[in-house]
Amino acid sequence: LGSTETFGRLPEPNEFIVIPKSQIYCEKYASSTQAAHCLIYAETNEKVFGIYNPRASILMQLRYDGYFGFPGGLIDSGEDFVTAVNREMAEEMNLDTTIHSVSHDDHVISHWSEKKNLALHFYKLKVKMTELIEIEKRALLARDYGSEVLGTIRVPLYTLGDHYRGFPVFLKHNFIGCSKEQLLAALSSLNILTPEEIQLALNAHSKNV
Ligand code: GTP
Ligand code: MN
Ligand code: MN
Ligand code: MN
Ligand code: MN
Ligand code: MN
Repeated sequence: LGSTETFGRLPEPNEFIVIPKSQIYCEKYASSTQAAHCLIYAETNEKVFGIYNPRASILMQLRYDGYFGFPGGLIDSGEDFVTAVNREMAEEMNLDTTIHSVSHDDHVISHWSEKKNLALHFYKLKVKMTELIEIEKRALLARDYGSEVLGTIRVPLYTLGDHYRGFPVFLKHNFIGCSKEQLLAALSSLNILTPEEIQLALNAHSKNV
């Protein structure tokens, strides 16, 4: 044989393209299925195990379908993106949106899948580290906890001395929709990781297999 084609499928080409900021409200997308999700994060300098630079604490969730993703969800007909994402964060995380809510200015990136006729809008919500800890605790009492949402997690953004464990391993998980692209886009646009650091993590592989 000797052909690598026998052993594995080629990676699927990414079906999502970035929507230019000026076009996120276009009719083309308004007549498709749309959803909005949010990255909740806090800046922190407190070293992990006294060694690793944490960069920031970013929240993601384990979904009912086994994938990792962000809190958020489908936009109801006639609903504003920002209203939808705040409503979904209240349902999925029990977020007190009278204290923490996203606005139009928190938009990070939007993606479009022609194949799925789906537009995905992504927002950020910056909080203090003490607030992030409270948000995590409250999430256990969310309406959708135990059904749509199986847990809140923090993303390990540091890399261990083997250049693999930590962030590179995390990126090997399965992510819903374009949530991995959303995470990477936010890390770079919020200046949490440089594009070079992100590329290194994507290219990293274990030396023990
Ligand atoms: P229901 O209330 O059960 O309908 O779920 P929901 O409204 O919370 O919707 P969900 O969060 O599952 O998102 C709807 C769509 O967005 C689906 O097509 C998912 O594949 C996709 N999706 C879910 N989470 C994410 C995410 O974090 N990022 C991206 N880009 N897409 C996501
Ligand atoms: Mn232990
Ligand atoms: Mn939901
Ligand atoms: Mn959801
Ligand atoms: Mn929903
Ligand atoms: Mn729901």
